[in-house]
Amino acid sequence: MVNIAVLGYGTVGSGVVEVIETNWASINKKAGNEINIKYVLDLREFPGDPVEKILVHDYNVILNDPEVNIIVETMGGLHPAYEFTKAALEAGKSVCTSNKELVAAHGPELLKIAKAGDINYLFEASCGGGIPIIRPLNSSLTADEIDEITGILNGTTNYILTKMDREGSDFADALAQAQANGYAERNPEADIKGYDACRKIAILSSLAFGRTVNYQDIYTEGITEITAADIKYAREMGYAIKLLASSRKVGEGKFYAMVSPMLVSSNSPLFSVNGVFNAIFIHGNVLGDAMFYGSGAGKLPTASAVVADVVDCAKHLHRNIMMSWSSKTLSLMKIDDVEGIYFVRVAGTPSEKMEAVRALFGQVDPITIPSVPGEFAFLTGCLSETQFAEKAAQLPGGILNRIRVHE
Ligand code: HSE
Repeated sequence: MVNIAVLGYGTVGSGVVEVIETNWASINKKAGNEINIKYVLDLREFPGDPVEKILVHDYNVILNDPEVNIIVETMGGLHPAYEFTKAALEAGKSVCTSNKELVAAHGPELLKIAKAGDINYLFEASCGGGIPIIRPLNSSLTADEIDEITGILNGTTNYILTKMDREGSDFADALAQAQANGYAERNPEADIKGYDACRKIAILSSLAFGRTVNYQDIYTEGITEITAADIKYAREMGYAIKLLASSRKVGEGKFYAMVSPMLVSSNSPLFSVNGVFNAIFIHGNVLGDAMFYGSGAGKLPTASAVVADVVDCAKHLHRNIMMSWSSKTLSLMKIDDVEGIYFVRVAGTPSEKMEAVRALFGQVDPITIPSVPGEFAFLTGCLSETQFAEKAAQLPGGILNRIRVHE
């Protein structure tokens, strides 16, 4: 028997208990052992819930119990999750988590402790919910030098952008609907400002590139400035607007990472990823393209990934199976030097403004759509962020909005 303890009986923690109960026989078969939930730790009481019998409020009960081999950390946040995880690993207990904040902030240290103890710190659920992506990066794509990871890594924002696209609604209305339907938190800041996707791409990039990508170094822009007019232009032009989290190797030792809303063309496999679904596109130097798609958020998909990690830990109780990455920081290019194409909206008419636009941006063509009167748009050539900002600032009257184009 393998005894586990679940820290935090919230959405994901209760999902873990539910998944283990639902698929108990097949999970045990795959683990080669009987998985027994010995404890659930939470500050709250759950009267009437079967979990009541195994509920504890003191972490030391779990930590000091030599029968507990695996700890599931589904508390979220940095503290006390960091202290609890570190203590568990130091006590020789493997830890499985969905906590992207913790992995992004302390991953290398916790992985190192696990390696030293020949146990495991696994975090499949931290990126892309139920989509297997950490395990493929750890054990399937090892023949490749990965030069790009671009993902739709946040279900809430993808749901909002899909709603705006399908219903023509404004950002505020789509957010309110997402909240009403339980697809956005009451405080949605981490999702809509891109912070959640930023942590996820930091983890994936660290694993793919072998060095720590500090999430604080990643340029991050959310979707709060995207308007119904932007979406109308995108549709007319055959694009969709998606919040992309991307990291790329663009030369020897030259990497950049960015979270930003982008125009995605219908040729891209990311174009059709809608609603709460997530997808992660990967390019490897020998593999070429691969894409992982599925349920990126939600109680049971996330719990499915956590329980898969529990099974892996149970199968490898005294063997470390997780690739680590160096605690040395991967130095990223300054955002100012990153190059790309921009979609730009300008107030006025092409006849009034195109001369000034072309004087700054070259031979670009105006795009007008009847449903958005009083303005026009254009696509730039390839420019660095600095070059674009300088030119946009010189345009008489400025610009209404700009969105990067995914290439
Ligand atoms: N808020 C996150 C999302 C949950 O919407 O993707 C999963 O990490």
